[in-house]
Amino acid sequence: MPLVVREITRQTPDIVSIRMQNADASPLPAWQPGAHVDLQLITRHERQYSLCGDPADVASYRVAVRREELSRGGSHYIHAFLREGATVWVRPPRNLFELGEARAYLLLAAGIGVTPILAMARHLASVDAEWRMIVAARTRDGVAFADEIGALGERATVHVSAEEGRLDLSTLLGTIAPGTDVYACGPAAFTDALHALAPTLPEGSGIHLERFVPRAREFSPNEAFTATAARSGVTVDVPPTRSLLESLQGAGVAVSGSCLRGVCGSCAVPVLAGAVEHRDSLTTDDDARVIYPCVSRARSGEALVLDV
Ligand code: FES
Repeated sequence: MPLVVREITRQTPDIVSIRMQNADASPLPAWQPGAHVDLQLITRHERQYSLCGDPADVASYRVAVRREELSRGGSHYIHAFLREGATVWVRPPRNLFELGEARAYLLLAAGIGVTPILAMARHLASVDAEWRMIVAARTRDGVAFADEIGALGERATVHVSAEEGRLDLSTLLGTIAPGTDVYACGPAAFTDALHALAPTLPEGSGIHLERFVPRAREFSPNEAFTATAARSGVTVDVPPTRSLLESLQGAGVAVSGSCLRGVCGSCAVPVLAGAVEHRDSLTTDDDARVIYPCVSRARSGEALVLDV
């Protein structure tokens, strides 16, 4: 969808928020907290950004973009060149970080990770749920949407590590009541620390993480395997040097990808047969029957049959 940038607001020295609309301000596809959109810039960079506005505002999408020191181009372009009135191409929202049913919610964000968490907090407040939100930042001027966080009342707090010391995640998770689900978004060190603490959660509680970068793990060297796209009637040989996604696309099978790093979920394909080595950062169950072919492969060179 071509959307017009209506408003760019500096949230912190490193973060700007961008509000976009249809040219005639007509309604956009609906979304729920946790959803993200893919933004395509004239530089041909495509990036995923969590929606952080109000789902009830059907005419606008709002995202926030942090200037990355090692930007691959997208965040640099947005900070340096994107202006109000420009057109950006946006794919409709997708949600891989949905809020589920829980007795209570603990929402945790660090840095730019506040974007999906803020939308969740606003929603939980509106339905009178039992929730708490903590937004961690190194310095006070590094807190994006500080006014909006403040407007959520005393359930929403900001933890500034330069003033209060590092947020003690272990102690924090040790205090939650059974049945509380944790939703968290932030840089790798933050989400990795929470992932490691998941076994310490009380009964009936779960942890849901949204990552910006892949989980650091090591895998055995790539092996060749074959994959059959059952609906397309195509079988491809996947050599060790190519991803399954590249091989499928090269054979004309309609599978799209975006991040190509196993974090966005856009390339998901259902698996009909064969064992998968899940190398993505989304799958939590080793037996999951969905593969993210941008990074995941067949286990031990087994043949895969895919529903595509
Ligand atoms: S393209 Fe993003 S998970 Fe595969």
